[in-house]
Amino acid sequence: TAPELIRNFCIIAHIDHGKSTLADRMLQLTGVVQPRDARAQYLDRMDIERERGITIKSQAVRMPWQLGDEPYALNMIDTPGHVDFTYEVSRSLAACEGAVLLVDAAQGIEAQTLANLYLAMENDLEIVPVLNKIDLPAAQPERYAEELANLVGGDPADVLKVSGKTGEGVEPLLDRIVERVPAPVGDPDAPARAMIFDSVYDTYRGVVTYVRAIDGDLNPRERIQMMSTRATHELLEIGVISPEPIKTNGLGVGEVGYLITGVKDVRQSKVGDTVTTANKPATQALGGYAEPKPMVFSGLYPVDGSDYPTLRDALDKLKLNDAALNYEPETSVALGFGFRVGFLGLLHLEIVRERLEREFDLDLISTAPNVVYDVTMEDGTEVKVTNPSEFPGGKIKEVREPVVKATVLAPSEFVGTVMGLCTDRRGTMQGMDYLSEDRVELRYTLPLAEIVFDFFDALKSRTRGYASLDYEPVGDQAADLVKVDILLQGDQVDAFSAIVHKDAAYEYGVKMTAKLKEIIPRQQFEVPIQAAVGARVIARETVRAIRKDVLAKCYGGDISRKRKLLEKQKEGKKRMKNIGSVEVPKDAFIAALSSD
Ligand code: GTP
Repeated sequence: TAPELIRNFCIIAHIDHGKSTLADRMLQLTGVVQPRDARAQYLDRMDIERERGITIKSQAVRMPWQLGDEPYALNMIDTPGHVDFTYEVSRSLAACEGAVLLVDAAQGIEAQTLANLYLAMENDLEIVPVLNKIDLPAAQPERYAEELANLVGGDPADVLKVSGKTGEGVEPLLDRIVERVPAPVGDPDAPARAMIFDSVYDTYRGVVTYVRAIDGDLNPRERIQMMSTRATHELLEIGVISPEPIKTNGLGVGEVGYLITGVKDVRQSKVGDTVTTANKPATQALGGYAEPKPMVFSGLYPVDGSDYPTLRDALDKLKLNDAALNYEPETSVALGFGFRVGFLGLLHLEIVRERLEREFDLDLISTAPNVVYDVTMEDGTEVKVTNPSEFPGGKIKEVREPVVKATVLAPSEFVGTVMGLCTDRRGTMQGMDYLSEDRVELRYTLPLAEIVFDFFDALKSRTRGYASLDYEPVGDQAADLVKVDILLQGDQVDAFSAIVHKDAAYEYGVKMTAKLKEIIPRQQFEVPIQAAVGARVIARETVRAIRKDVLAKCYGGDISRKRKLLEKQKEGKKRMKNIGSVEVPKDAFIAALSSD
């Protein structure tokens, strides 16, 4: 297809404002998905996405659309809405020339409407403002059309009003996309350059790489080259997704599609890399993407130690599909061999863990998540701590923790509530603006550690679901932080160490010791469970002693029965972990780490 007839666009919106539903409707109206094949959330291919009703991965689909006499090809890139996946959004935006900014006509502008709009503007995208869900009785299209027009600049009359559910207004929206979104520009005669914006591992076909062609063209059976490594591969298949993969005779300027080289090694196809041809290679690679920075870390361990190699392999494969994933091997006294994994946020952690368990059939334990701390010692050495149990002892001069700039949008009646919550979480107010008479934007600096865990839930429940939140990292600050260790009979259990604010140390200690007391089985001797900051014990519980004699039930003679019982006890012992002289079933750690 000639570039003049191509439009590359994405849909951006606050979570639940109806992106996926609108995308489904567009697929139907353009005839890409036949009504009998239609299913809700067509583009959310992963089971987890459908079950949770959220989009995690970006998806690109090509749709034909006729305007006047011209047959256009629209490439739609569906993007996730949750803050944790902003990284996916920004990569998709770089592959588009325009963005449909979708706003729920019953809710108005929310925090991620703003965040995504700013991202789109940074990428110089043409913005097409649209109000969705106009079929809802609570919709106030006139009011929000004005709000939206004020935001993006323009006339409220130009804001399209649609319903992804009923299909109303969606055809005019497709026309509008053709009219407003600029055609892609590129040099068809230059050496080929295509940007890798995603890749997945397919068991049968090896690595499938998704690209957006910028200059020149890529043709089947050509040798291609990855510009970062100079590695060349034969192109076995090239095509577009519409909505299933369809082979084509190549990809030209502005086109979006996939390539298959038969390569099995996932590291050969790096997101952000530039693909060129081997016999006429480009000299300059495309810009690439900024490396995403993991914000939250957690230990991931296989429940069954022999699954460790499978876990390593699974992480390698998942990393291909999720560029934001970072991991390093680590070992824990309590949990054995595993990995310290970096995530963009808690939802990202949950999704990764769930994908590992489902797609690779693993049973995993994850330790309590933590952020990254920068510790400066009295003697000037600096330590980066991603695992609380590695928090240095000795004389510490300063501990710095990451902070974020958070924006909360809420109805004005909740201003006091939101301020109270932010103050409780060690926030500092930066400013406040009324967007309209009854809608307020509050800006705070907050420690990331306070926000990643349950801040969002607390905010939602205190504002009856009316507040929305967005945040971005803005650096770090010094804070009064201490490490709390949990000791069993004087021996530290590494998986339970935590770095907390000084004022919260006692509470953490009491909670953890009480929880472990419930879970740790009684031993032949008394087991003290202590929480300590340095050498100072701040909480203590005791598991009382028990004398457990397996042979007590056997009266006298039957030696084979006695042996069987002893064997059985030995079996049980294998699943035990020794912390000092205390035997703890691995299940107890799992229970302690999973319950809250
Ligand atoms: P994420 O993928 O998680 O970002 O969400 P999304 O923005 O894709 O939202 P989705 O399409 O999943 O829709 C969210 C909810 O709104 C669902 O319950 C939809 O059924 C509903 N919904 C979407 N569009 C419309 C609409 O036009 N009218 C009405 N009444 N409901 C809609």
